[in-house]
Amino acid sequence: MILSSATQLDTPFKKDVFEGLTSEPKYLYSKYIYDQAGDKLFQDIMALPEYYLTNCELEILTLHTKAIANLFKGDANGFDLIELGAGDGKKTKVLLHHLSKNQIEFTYKPIDISENAIDGLTRTLAKEIPEVNVDGETGEYFEVLERLQNFKSRKKVIMVLGSNIGNLLHPRAIQFLTKLGETMSCDDILFMGFDQKKDPQTILDAYNDPTGVTAAFNKNLLVRINRELEGNFDISKFKHWEVYDPETGTAKSYLVATEAQRVRLETLDLDISFDAWETIHTEISQKYTDKIVAWLAEASGLRIETSFTDSHNYYKNYAFKKMKDPKA
Ligand code: AVJ
Repeated sequence: MILSSATQLDTPFKKDVFEGLTSEPKYLYSKYIYDQAGDKLFQDIMALPEYYLTNCELEILTLHTKAIANLFKGDANGFDLIELGAGDGKKTKVLLHHLSKNQIEFTYKPIDISENAIDGLTRTLAKEIPEVNVDGETGEYFEVLERLQNFKSRKKVIMVLGSNIGNLLHPRAIQFLTKLGETMSCDDILFMGFDQKKDPQTILDAYNDPTGVTAAFNKNLLVRINRELEGNFDISKFKHWEVYDPETGTAKSYLVATEAQRVRLETLDLDISFDAWETIHTEISQKYTDKIVAWLAEASGLRIETSFTDSHNYYKNYAFKKMKDPKA
């Protein structure tokens, strides 16, 4: 696998695809699923009856709107509500409606990797809740962390819904939480959704819907590579496969080659060969318990202030604060 000198890995996407598909075993990062088609497919996933996460979190935000709003609102100066991975904001709107109806002073700052999502959200909010001050931005999680440092003139609430943290294995989750904590003052709040361990069948079903929406979502990685890197993946020769380990709580998605094949990525001047049944690991969706979340928090210099759950105990939203400095 020799890269001709003319080929430049001049974008993170090119570099990551090259590295992932020349590694053994092969992998691709799930963040690259979310182009315009991927965003749409994820919307479809959220509407699936099997994908309980969205409805559970919506139930939590609906049942506990008041308590959550009270937790968020600061003094007369108000607060900044910064949401990482805001998506279509469907769940957040419940909170935004309440905050604006009760004349609580705040600015909503949605941040998403998808420019698409931010544009759409800004437009619908201007129509549906025009009183809310919206200041959206595009960016990746680890990228926007730096910019969060600038929000310290008043209370800040950092919100990460959808169990998005589940895409990170524990060591990276601790890194992420630690960095979030470093941007926080002692009154600031980190409000995060964590999908909980439950009947393993329920979890498998959520990532393995019979209509094939999740399969199409996963395969969108290959569709995107074909389009953006002049690839010739035959999508029909890959199969979506999900596994869940009830011990570790890790759900993993794969694309499995159903026969031996060669794929060419013209832009990278790269030929990749697959053995029959060779895998590309594409995503992890971690499931949690209170114990694990408490351990993650402690390892990151945070403490759990309170938490909210749905009627099935399928899902939990935790509010974290910075751990008190023992020297203070
Ligand atoms: C948006 C990352 C939380 O892992 O549950 C849904 C993405 N993948 N179905 C998840 C996803 C397959 C989702 N997150």
